[in-house]
Amino acid sequence: MKAKEDVKDIDIIEKHWDDYSPEFDEAHATEDIDLWREELFKLTGEKKGLKVLDIGTGTGFLALMMAELGNEVYGVDVSEGMMSIGKEHAKERNVDVKFIKNEGENLQFDDDFFDVVVNCRVLWTLVDPDVSFKEWKRVMKPGGKVISFIRDSKGMHKPKKEFIYSKELDEKLPLRKADEKTYMEYMERAGFKNSKVIRMREDLTVKRETDDNKKMSPWLAVYGEK
Ligand SMILES: C[S@@+](CC[C@H](N)C(=O)[O-])C[C@H]1O[C@@H](n2cnc3c(N)ncnc32)[C@H](O)[C@@H]1O
Repeated sequence: MKAKEDVKDIDIIEKHWDDYSPEFDEAHATEDIDLWREELFKLTGEKKGLKVLDIGTGTGFLALMMAELGNEVYGVDVSEGMMSIGKEHAKERNVDVKFIKNEGENLQFDDDFFDVVVNCRVLWTLVDPDVSFKEWKRVMKPGGKVISFIRDSKGMHKPKKEFIYSKELDEKLPLRKADEKTYMEYMERAGFKNSKVIRMREDLTVKRETDDNKKMSPWLAVYGEK
């Protein structure tokens, strides 16, 4: 066992998602996949065969849909537990996704490799978004797109326990409860062009109710180009 001072934030994050993976996957099986696919298609453009990277792919939520749209998809995550469920889903849905254990801050890919970098429910958990955004941009082709999906934290009620690490770690996460202005500042600092925060259509917000029975917050897409 590692001494407390040797346990890095990313180790805590990895263990958290390994432990939560079955629960997380079950709780998120309520999304309207057909609608999501349509919205992804609009955002990424109609070309097929794009090289797509899904960061913090988890159980493959975006990666599987991007593969179903006819793209060449890589999903990276620190949690093998999450990805092992993703691999099962890929078999069930008969699509090919390359799941790879890799930190989003230190990607194993060459410069200018991907047409599109996506992620979902990941921004809030980044320990140093400046480092992450710079790294994502590195692996994007010139003109490539980055699209980060995240729920609007405005008016967000108490997060579900799966979205809580520890008080100490949560307080360090710069985008834990970020607003649109903050996302834009990070995107611009990373040098992304045409950055914008898109409010996704309202019916993308699932019917699933939260613990305290309030409606889920709407989805945002934080968009930029290299
Ligand atoms: C809330 S889950 C979202 C999973 C999936 N994107 C989805 O929307 O269903 C966050 C995921 O990001 C992964 N993650 C968090 N920080 C990461 C990092 N720095 N590098 C790679 N993966 C990371 C976690 O292991 C977890 O699987």
